Amino acid sequence: MKTVATALVLLLLGIAASAWAQGDAAKGKAIVEKKKCAVCHKAGSKEGKPMEELAGTHNDAHLKGSITDPKKFIKPDIKMPAAKLSDQELQDVIAYLRSIAKK
Ligand code: HEC
Repeated sequence: MKTVATALVLLLLGIAASAWAQGDAAKGKAIVEKKKCAVCHKAGSKEGKPMEELAGTHNDAHLKGSITDPKKFIKPDIKMPAAKLSDQELQDVIAYLRSIAKK
């Protein structure tokens, strides 16, 4: 019995860990809508590139930094406001950006 219980716990931990690592694109979409990122990141905007191009070939660290501290990660005079998001929320936003990214 003990082994079964241990296996179950490990399985659940595994599921939780992979969900965290990948982020939830649906939640990310809700956050992006709430934060109005598309005001600047839309086709034809001069303020920022379209949302589908944001993920680009960037790694998670660059995306996280750009979203939480654009002045430091992109350029000092950028108009993009820093978004205060938790690590989980950032992971969700990144999952969303990658899900809509043009390949
Ligand atoms: C006031 C306009 C504005 C808003 C609002 C805004 N951004 Fe930006 N963002 C910019 C500009 C300008 C850049 C730099 C040019 C570019 O890469 O599009 C940028 C760059 C980025 C980059 C880096 C892209 C790269 O290739 O290095 C990411 C990621 C990003 N924005 C995500 C977001 C997210 C997520 C939100 C919402 C939480 C958001 N932005 C809201 C204007 C904005």
